[in-house]
Amino acid sequence: MSGAEHGLIAITGAAGLVGTGLRQQLRERGYRLVLLDRKPVTDCTGAEQSFLVDITDQTAVTRHLQGCDAVVHLAACTTDAPWAEQVTLSVEGSISLFEAARAAGVMRVIYASSHHVVGYHPRTTVLDEHAVLKPDSRYGVGKAFGESIGAMMAYKYDMRVLSIRIGNVNSKPIDRRRLGNWISWRDLGQLVSLGITHPELRYEVVYGISDATGRDYDNRAAHALGYRPQDQSEPFEADVLAHDPVPAQGSPQAFAPSEMTKGGVFSGNEFTGSSERLRPR
Ligand SMILES: NC(=O)c1ccc[n+]([C@@H]2O[C@H](COP(=O)([O-])OP(=O)(O)OC[C@H]3O[C@@H](n4cnc5c(N)ncnc54)[C@H](O)[C@@H]3O)[C@@H](O)[C@H]2O)c1
Repeated sequence: MSGAEHGLIAITGAAGLVGTGLRQQLRERGYRLVLLDRKPVTDCTGAEQSFLVDITDQTAVTRHLQGCDAVVHLAACTTDAPWAEQVTLSVEGSISLFEAARAAGVMRVIYASSHHVVGYHPRTTVLDEHAVLKPDSRYGVGKAFGESIGAMMAYKYDMRVLSIRIGNVNSKPIDRRRLGNWISWRDLGQLVSLGITHPELRYEVVYGISDATGRDYDNRAAHALGYRPQDQSEPFEADVLAHDPVPAQGSPQAFAPSEMTKGGVFSGNEFTGSSERLRPR
């Protein structure tokens, strides 16, 4: 299937920030969209149908997924809220979504994971898709659960699943840390489209970053699928560093968990551990 054949793609969490940007990217590629969210989408185009649904309602989600070619799963707890919310939205929500997809015969899922699943790795270590999970937060743990169920569904039931560890989606990198994990809207659109169409996809983990390979992440797995990012963080570097300079060596800021790790503020929140353990080995 290709965009030109007007595939029908469902998006959960379609009313949110990523959903709103991705809708435009997928529409431009010729897809028709089924938008699922518990909040209303108020600006549907003729290529879209929108439904108010809670993703934990498996029966309702199954009904809305009928006839879709793939589902992009964005709905989740998107803050570091207490465990109960992570369990309801990111754990039970992902179980419901994957089981609903299977029941509806929608055997392709593009899962919005996050770099926060590896957030406690040192900032200076370049990670590929084999990096050990080191979530920096309850949020990161919830996202890691979605990767696990995706892998199980892919191997046990022959689903095709692409887990995209998104860095930060924005029109440009907003600070020094994001120079290494920023992804533009069109690059995210390209990655998601690869998840929808790639004939060889089984289960892959890729990083949702624009062209910053070698800085924080080694995204060869995405390149192997044909990903060719069109945007680079490098042209923004001087501007970002002018506002967010590198801390002086040996200064307290240089040893802050938010500075030492990939996860930034999420790593530093509630931190009572030892900064020594966050250093690269
Ligand atoms: N924004 C980023 O840069 C970024 C980075 C990494 C990962 N992600 C991931 O991308 C996805 C989307 O993020 P976002 O920034 O758009 O978040 P967001 O909070 O703006 O949007 C999330 C959407 O999900 C919906 N939702 C939540 N629980 C639901 C439920 N039970 N039933 C139905 N809908 C529900 C919300 O109503 C909301 O519209 C998330 O999974 C997030 O973890 C985003």
